[in-house]
Amino acid sequence: MNNQIIEVNHPEWTTHIAQDKWVTDLEAGKVLHFTSLEFPVPAFELDFFTSEIRNPKSRNISLDASGNLKGAVGNEEVQAGLGLMMERFRTQAQALVNSYFPCYKDYLSVAPTSFRPMQIETRNQSWRADDKRLHVDAFPSRPNYGERILRVFINVNPDNVARVWRVGEPFEAIVERFIPQAAPYSAWRARALNIAGVTKSFRSEYDHLMLQLHDAMKRDLDYQRNSPQLTVPFPAGSVWACFSDQVSHAAMSGQYMMEQTFHLPVSNQYDTNASPLAILRNFTGRELI
Ligand code: SIN
Ligand code: FE
Repeated sequence: MNNQIIEVNHPEWTTHIAQDKWVTDLEAGKVLHFTSLEFPVPAFELDFFTSEIRNPKSRNISLDASGNLKGAVGNEEVQAGLGLMMERFRTQAQALVNSYFPCYKDYLSVAPTSFRPMQIETRNQSWRADDKRLHVDAFPSRPNYGERILRVFINVNPDNVARVWRVGEPFEAIVERFIPQAAPYSAWRARALNIAGVTKSFRSEYDHLMLQLHDAMKRDLDYQRNSPQLTVPFPAGSVWACFSDQVSHAAMSGQYMMEQTFHLPVSNQYDTNASPLAILRNFTGRELI
């Protein structure tokens, strides 16, 4: 368990000496913790650091590729300023993944950037939505057929408060533990969910199994408490990256984080055998998509 976190102390968002090891670590389900990157926040941006900036009707604040900001309240100036701060992070996160993981460069697509100003400890959510419980990311309405979810996070807390995660056991162990009890896949039900508009496209068996893992982990309080896990404080200013569809993670405390998601076709991994799709396919002996 102790080697789930790989520290990268290089002080730049880009590197000329990308190592295969970083990609291999990422694909093996490690979290890369960049300990020494700078993301200066000018004084006027400190106004954005309040939980009140989120529209209570939205879960998060997000900025899409065309610069549309959603989920924030405040006048035009505040919204424009917040959008610029988030865009600055997106630019840095893109530079980071393109440079540290150059083999993905031509294949990544960029999802919206999010800003999470809420205090984790006081959030009250249903067990399924509760990210304080260990889980792998899987989304009920958005089947992805094995496409990878690469996320870059930054703790932008201005008061030096760490963002504390738990990181759980490797994906292979989660599969062995929970897939034997998973509800069987029903193509008929997947079709009904699609027709009813519950899913944006047809839910594959892969997507079904990923949701089963997500829910089985979160539902099981004994697993939450007693399974192998590490507590990992990411100090203010830290940047970290992982495949969140593979790394078991839970966010326990902290406030003010930005996150950039990238999607990577599973066929463009360095080692396609390291993907959740391949691991689940090997375990079940079925194609799954
Ligand atoms: C999550 O991705 O589950 C939560 C991450 C965070 O809020 O730090
Ligand atoms: Fe998550």
